[in-house]
Amino acid sequence: MEVSDRLRARARSLARRAIVAAAPRVGLEAYEPNRDYRGRLGTLSDYREDDRPVRDKRVEMGGETDLGHTVTVEALEDMIDVRSLHGARVLEVGPKRGFHSRWLDRTLEPAELVLVDLPSERAVHDTWQGELRCRHRFVYEDLAGSAELLGLERFDLALCLGVLYHSVYHLQMLAMLNRATRLGGALLLETTVDPRSDASIRLRWQLRAKAKAVPTLDAVRLMLAWTGWRKVVHFTDYRPGSTEVVLLCEKTDELVEGRDFAATVTPHRTARPATGDESPLGTGAEEDLLAGMETVLLDALRAEKV
Ligand SMILES: C[S@@+](CC[C@H](N)C(=O)[O-])C[C@H]1O[C@@H](n2cnc3c(N)ncnc32)[C@H](O)[C@@H]1O
Repeated sequence: MEVSDRLRARARSLARRAIVAAAPRVGLEAYEPNRDYRGRLGTLSDYREDDRPVRDKRVEMGGETDLGHTVTVEALEDMIDVRSLHGARVLEVGPKRGFHSRWLDRTLEPAELVLVDLPSERAVHDTWQGELRCRHRFVYEDLAGSAELLGLERFDLALCLGVLYHSVYHLQMLAMLNRATRLGGALLLETTVDPRSDASIRLRWQLRAKAKAVPTLDAVRLMLAWTGWRKVVHFTDYRPGSTEVVLLCEKTDELVEGRDFAATVTPHRTARPATGDESPLGTGAEEDLLAGMETVLLDALRAEKV
């Protein structure tokens, strides 16, 4: 490292420390983001940013120009391969006013369209479900614990637009979407994200509003990888400047019964086999040590590039 680089690194470190120390005095909180997951996420998942033009540039919803739905149909056409999904089995979570349902019905002509929503939305669905021409059915259950969905034939495509952050059960929802989708099948996920750069979830509980849990983009990526969606394309031209993201995810892992995590994840420390053999991914202290070293190395390499 050259002298000027060393000086720059030192200045950055001093500035960081000064900001962290000063923030509470002006009523703010500053913290060093913990990105210990990056090494393993990078190794075990395939994440790609795709900057193709996406025809939805709304920075905010609400107000006079609000269309009352998340993704526009033009944007769906930009992100979904309509031709290859024609006649597919399609699942839509939280259809609400049926804006995307009607597009799916007309454009993909699905073999079957299954719509999962909360029972409280039934009256809203009654206003538009008569317009659907394809074979369809409604499942009135919370996605996170839907027993009916598990009894249905697997889907080729699942849409979950504007739903995830409404629930605090992100992992259960993503795991249920995994179980409902065939291996290699796709999930188009749209969600509000918290703008912070690490993997965290902002819990919200406003006066006269329901409880919400808004994940950061890294938290979404992590939870997707944990629940068997390890191939992700992020459409970066979707509503730039907003807090919304759209990810097209591929199901890469089957989840075993009774477990919401893919085999690549160790949510609980498992007993060491008597032989001392480890799985290829390991489960013991050595694995944690290696993961830590990997993270430090990757961070150091990244810092070199700055
Ligand atoms: C903001 S609306 C989004 C409507 C539409 N999908 C869109 O993208 O514009 C949220 C929808 O998700 C549904 N929803 C919220 N939590 C849900 C859950 N746990 N299970 C199933 N549906 C849920 C709501 O009832 C509602 O229909």
